[in-house]
Amino acid sequence: MADTNPLSNCRLAFIGCGVMAEAIIAGLLRKKLVGPEQIAGSHPRQARREEMHVKYGVEMFENNRDAVTAASPESLEASSIVVLAVKPQRLHGVLQQLKGSLVKEQLVVSVVAGAKIETIAEELVHVSIVRTMPNTPAQIGEGVTAWTASAGVSEEQESQVCAMLEALGKTVRVENERQIDMATALSATGPTYIFLVMEALIDAGVHMGFSRHVAQELVHQTMLGSVLFARESHKHPAELRNMVTSPGGTSAEAIYQMEKGSLRTVLSKAVWSAYQRAEALGRK
Ligand SMILES: NC(=O)c1ccc[n+]([C@@H]2O[C@H](COP(=O)([O-])OP(=O)(O)OC[C@H]3O[C@@H](n4cnc5c(N)ncnc54)[C@H](OP(=O)(O)O)[C@@H]3O)[C@@H](O)[C@H]2O)c1
Repeated sequence: MADTNPLSNCRLAFIGCGVMAEAIIAGLLRKKLVGPEQIAGSHPRQARREEMHVKYGVEMFENNRDAVTAASPESLEASSIVVLAVKPQRLHGVLQQLKGSLVKEQLVVSVVAGAKIETIAEELVHVSIVRTMPNTPAQIGEGVTAWTASAGVSEEQESQVCAMLEALGKTVRVENERQIDMATALSATGPTYIFLVMEALIDAGVHMGFSRHVAQELVHQTMLGSVLFARESHKHPAELRNMVTSPGGTSAEAIYQMEKGSLRTVLSKAVWSAYQRAEALGRK
């Protein structure tokens, strides 16, 4: 049977092994898409290097360039991905260090918020760049990652990126970096909207007299169940809402108050403001 795993012959280097890099490494190993011997990582702190080595069996380096070299393709048939996973304020220094250490066949995948493909390409003098925007549920493999690629990225590399990002949950390929900013506002900032609504509903339960524990259990499962129901039923949210809105009932009363309080407009304005902020941060 043909090998359908696009990462079977790929080596990966993770530059900056913090929360996001660990989520990808853990997902890749859990799904057996790669073995630990295919992964190299770098981190400035020895304690973290040891932790990653003991936990996942991956080779760790202090120097970022050494991780890139360790993951360079072994042969013409082999491939290699360098994942940039440092905080945005560290990126410039890291790119300066890495400049000249990559071979042209290596693909660079950035998870760094706000970092433009053009900036990375110019600073590294490299053409194959993928920019991604994951979100925090990625840490439990339930995230959604928007991604886009520079013109220098091959079809084979694209399928490798897809397989790698699926270690974090679902993936959505978007057309351009403007849509990465849009995804930053909708899905990457998304958990913030959900957590705020969750908190408000739990507080409302406590206000009525439930213990916090009971209110939390009721709200968590209601949110989870509603999302799964919406996904499985393939119905428009308004249709699902109408199904439970009986004349003169509790849902009708609650909807009246939410519309009166402009909940829709507030959410729409929040997403739009986050989008404008993402664009502004990208211009800095
Ligand atoms: N976490 C998320 O859910 C999420 C979602 C979307 C996008 N992102 C993006 O993913 C990137 C990483 O985020 P994160 O949450 O994983 O951050 P993080 O946990 O802080 O990971 C970054 C790691 O890089 C290390 N580091 C610092 N300087 C370095 C250097 N010069 N070379 C190599 N490593 C260095 C840091 O070490 P110290 O701990 O010692 O500083 C830290 O462990 C960010 O750019 C962020 O915008 C994250």
